[in-house]
Amino acid sequence: MDLAGRIIVVTGAARGLGRAFAEGCWREKARSIVVADIDEAAGLATAQELAAQGADAHFLHVDVADPASVEAFALALKTRFGRVDGLINNAALATGIGGKTFEEIDVETFDRVLSINVRGLWLVTRALAPLLRLAEGGGRIVNLASDTALWGAPRLLHYVASKGAVISMTRSLARELGPDDISVNAIAPGLVIGESTEYVPQERHDLYVNGRAIPRKQYPQDVVSAALFFLMPEAGFVTGQVVPVNGGFVFN
Ligand SMILES: NC(=O)c1ccc[n+]([C@@H]2O[C@H](COP(=O)([O-])OP(=O)(O)OC[C@H]3O[C@@H](n4cnc5c(N)ncnc54)[C@H](O)[C@@H]3O)[C@@H](O)[C@H]2O)c1
Repeated sequence: MDLAGRIIVVTGAARGLGRAFAEGCWREKARSIVVADIDEAAGLATAQELAAQGADAHFLHVDVADPASVEAFALALKTRFGRVDGLINNAALATGIGGKTFEEIDVETFDRVLSINVRGLWLVTRALAPLLRLAEGGGRIVNLASDTALWGAPRLLHYVASKGAVISMTRSLARELGPDDISVNAIAPGLVIGESTEYVPQERHDLYVNGRAIPRKQYPQDVVSAALFFLMPEAGFVTGQVVPVNGGFVFN
């Protein structure tokens, strides 16, 4: 099983997990990889580093929270590739927002998190659906949820709500897109070591490490293979599923 011949789009791939997914797609022989991100400089650098290793990697700018930007992004994909075989909906506001109680979170931040993490995922999926319907061997969508939505992480209500919505949307989208041979699944990582979680207090890191069935830190590489599995043509009959990838911190 590999991704030979497949055109894969990863949103939020400039850094972190998205970047690790893009690298994983390259290792699995994807034909083309699209690094899509709001951060032009970092996104371009990631695509260039992949291209330097021999990948057919491209950077495309997108702000998933902006409907016009998403439409322009879909048009660019259509013009350049004509179809999309796999989409990883990874872009999110996932850093710097934790540590506040539900009473302390401000309305503006709440709306921003929902606008990127929930509405953005819908906008991108809606815009790319026509291209995914043209996928060879069935379209594949992988959504990034989070295990915080499964165990009810405190002091992170806007983010937890957004990832709960990602899980619900995964299930509804699986039913709406199933007749078009497009699978839709979600992975729910635990707390992953990386730039986005450097700000998280040590106490929360320790809670995860000590609470896991496999009691160690989690790295981006721990999450990649589950996402790649869902992208494979052979995985097409698995849909609407949510898989926690967290070393057994919570079970689904
Ligand atoms: N890191 C973790 O511990 C963890 C745990 C569970 C789930 N997740 C999820 O995994 C995904 C990646 O997380 P990460 O830790 O790599 O985050 P990150 O902050 O390192 O990366 C997020 C990327 O998304 C991009 N982005 C942000 N807003 C955007 C927008 N409006 N349009 C386009 N791109 C935008 C950023 O520029 C960045 O490159 C997120 O969906 C996150 O919620 C992360």
